[in-house]
Amino acid sequence: MTLDSNILDQLHAYGQSNLAEHWQQLAPAQQATLGEQISQIDLAEIQRAFASKTATGSAENFDQLEPPPAIRLNDAKPMISAADAYQAGEELLTAGKTASILVAGGQGTRLGFDHPKGMFPIGPVSEMTLFQIHFEKLIARSKRYGVRIPLYLMTSPATHDETIAYLESQNYFGLPAEDRHVFCQGTMPAVDHQTGQLLLSSADSLALSPDGHGGTVAALANCGALGTMQQQGIESIYYFQVDNPLADVCEPLFLGYHKLSQSQKSTQVIAKQFPEEKLGILAALDGKVRMVEYSELPTELAEATNEQGSLRYWAGNIAVHAFEVEFLQAMVETADSLPWHLAHKKVPYFDATGNMVSPDQPNAIKFERFIFDLLPSAKNALVVEVDTATTFAPVKNATGAATDTPESVRAAISALHRAWLKQCDVNVSEDVPVEISPLLALDAEQLKPHVAKIDEITEPTLFS
Ligand code: UD1
Repeated sequence: MTLDSNILDQLHAYGQSNLAEHWQQLAPAQQATLGEQISQIDLAEIQRAFASKTATGSAENFDQLEPPPAIRLNDAKPMISAADAYQAGEELLTAGKTASILVAGGQGTRLGFDHPKGMFPIGPVSEMTLFQIHFEKLIARSKRYGVRIPLYLMTSPATHDETIAYLESQNYFGLPAEDRHVFCQGTMPAVDHQTGQLLLSSADSLALSPDGHGGTVAALANCGALGTMQQQGIESIYYFQVDNPLADVCEPLFLGYHKLSQSQKSTQVIAKQFPEEKLGILAALDGKVRMVEYSELPTELAEATNEQGSLRYWAGNIAVHAFEVEFLQAMVETADSLPWHLAHKKVPYFDATGNMVSPDQPNAIKFERFIFDLLPSAKNALVVEVDTATTFAPVKNATGAATDTPESVRAAISALHRAWLKQCDVNVSEDVPVEISPLLALDAEQLKPHVAKIDEITEPTLFS
């Protein structure tokens, strides 16, 4: 059978006759280009995903939803003591058994920034970028423990080349070559929302978009990273998102809780402040921990309170996870360990008459996988509460929005570093921006000797 007839058979077999017809009319070079793309997608899977048309997490048994078992802040009787966890986390780091994954494949549309989000300048005084902050935190952590902590940075086709060019130009902020691995996530084609027909972005190209941060699992396996980690004796991975400059990269307490609870996947959460807050929540259903995205949580559950009057579904996902490498490897080998979520979106497309159409209403379904859908498969999945002020300030929206703007995030960084300075007996007035380079200090204790001779800060200051 020739490649051509194979493609046509496949397209017809999976109900993609429009595309089959279009493909037959193309010149040979265009047939080859489009044929190559088609041969790389799993048409059967797309047909199945489209047929499901219901995102996971549909509300069928949400009345059984429980708050998750969790290590809470200020817990009088925690399941694991903080001192034990901290020590276990430090041991894990010192033994060189930890790696990190930074996901940076999103396109940052809401932020209105026309480059990979990691290149966004966020330092309140230095204007250093998100990437610089994350890289320097990792370097500082690895120096503190005298070990290598490899970084696996996930991009998408939309962000890959520019990310590499930028990081090369900055010499990866000093992260050694053997410890940095940039890999690109996969894509999924968009389909027409009514017919399930694959959409084209040009005569010889499908309308493709990143397959969601759940694509991390397959992408890590495809680039050989999971095998490399296992050869290097890496056991646990700290996973975080590029948009959060307060992520406390490879922080030992969290890693230690993860280790001592023998959890295969742990997640950091913050206590939600109000029902409409745009955070997915961690909850338990049928004895398994799972995530319910904010858009899926019924309003009455989002507003439900407990006897003390605080939110019953309190555990807001900040998208920092710890994974066991073995668990990720097992998930690669388990078909359908991650379901597809269907998002109704506006996708410009190349129509049958050869014209580009820019719809003004959602016309398409995009398919994405979410990393947190691994939770129900994980043994001993653990939820660990952290303090928002020290751990979470994501930049999501453009200036002028109500929350998560560049201004609010810069203020949060400044507030945390001001608090460290105050702990070191340095006076800083509330309206003065301050910033501490991760290479100088990762916390107040490490900062102390560097500011011993300073009493007061009265103008914007970067400590580096
Ligand atoms: C996400 C979580 C939400 C959580 C919040 C915390 C989802 C669906 N929801 O919301 O539960 O409370 O973060 O900040 O994730 N990314 C990729 N490839 C992709 C898609 C995304 O690498 O294909 C990366 C982005 O670069 C970003 C992160 O994943 O670092 C989050 O993606 P985003 O779509 O911004 O999620 P949120 O809606 O902010």
